[in-house]
Amino acid sequence: MFNAIYLTQSDDGKTQAALREFNDDVLPRYESGNVIVDVHYSTINFKDGLAITGRSPVVRSFPIVPGIDLCGVVAESDDPEWKVGDKVIVNGWEIGERYWGGLSQRARVRGDWLIRLPAGLTPWDAMAIGTAGYTAMLCVRGLEKNGVAPDSGPVLVTGASGGVGSIAISILAKLGYKVTASTGRLSESDYLRELGAAHIIDRSSLSSPGKPLQKERWAGVVDTVGSHTLANACASTQYGGTVTACGLAQGMDLPLTVAPFILRGVKLIGINSVLISRAEREDAWERLAKDLKPQAIAAMSRTVALPEVFDVARDILDGKIRGRVVVDVQRAM
Ligand SMILES: NC(=O)c1ccc[n+]([C@@H]2O[C@H](COP(=O)([O-])OP(=O)(O)OC[C@H]3O[C@@H](n4cnc5c(N)ncnc54)[C@H](OP(=O)(O)O)[C@@H]3O)[C@@H](O)[C@H]2O)c1
Repeated sequence: MFNAIYLTQSDDGKTQAALREFNDDVLPRYESGNVIVDVHYSTINFKDGLAITGRSPVVRSFPIVPGIDLCGVVAESDDPEWKVGDKVIVNGWEIGERYWGGLSQRARVRGDWLIRLPAGLTPWDAMAIGTAGYTAMLCVRGLEKNGVAPDSGPVLVTGASGGVGSIAISILAKLGYKVTASTGRLSESDYLRELGAAHIIDRSSLSSPGKPLQKERWAGVVDTVGSHTLANACASTQYGGTVTACGLAQGMDLPLTVAPFILRGVKLIGINSVLISRAEREDAWERLAKDLKPQAIAAMSRTVALPEVFDVARDILDGKIRGRVVVDVQRAM
């Protein structure tokens, strides 16, 4: 028997979340390449908060075990690529949205969703990074691929105290970029400076409607909040600069004109971590193992037990979580 968080939906459409006990009979079976993983750690991302509270319809199929990330050890494998004892990570591929997720002590997944835990990272590190950190790396790579270098000029990171924001700051600072962190929590300024932010701005300076073109400030942007913040970030990006958009913490809308694109050649790059190719995932994880200092990972993360995820899910949506939360799924009490 093992424990998992289980989400059901009532007739009136409300999500109910509970800690339940299961055996392997309930684990879903895929057409091929079935692998059972003993999950050691998972995490709570913003999307997990939406799923567990039901605040936004991210779950495509009820009932479901939430958790878009997991890290553990292969316990059984029908896939020749994976052997019992292999240490593996799964991020996305719609686990926790459509398929059995990571907030469970055991999961059956498809072998082609797995990547190997990179050398130098522990399972705890991998979940302290999680989808948030791996998305931050995809954003950094988006900037690099589009020619934003440390000497191009300042890079803006929005939603700075959150998971994606904290890790983006840490990676960019280690690579030598001059990072401006936008936050609604100026009380976290010391934390953001420790991560490597050179400047800190109040997010209220970006969150209201602004002019279509503003003073050129940023060579690059990692935006995790969308809405007016993303519009203002585009409007204040330098000629030829790049904005990576991965999140919607402020809103899903984008009240923008074409002016930054046609008058300044600004590039707006969408980042999707869920269905990106395995090769790009492996590349991003190798970079994370190299470009993120273990002390930085530890400084921005804390660990909770499985039953604590209900509170953390509410807190992350209310903007009360700083950095990252790792879930020790083996602790079910
Ligand atoms: N595209 C993808 O594949 C992908 C992958 C991972 C995450 N995401 C998205 O990226 C976003 C961040 O994820 P996360 O896990 O880092 O979440 P998180 O830890 O909750 O961080 C979000 C941060 O956004 C800021 N924020 C919250 N509410 C806001 C508001 N109303 N207006 C402006 N800023 C606000 C807060 O930072 P401050 O307190 O510092 O202002 C908060 O800490 C989410 O929207 C998530 O869904 C997308």
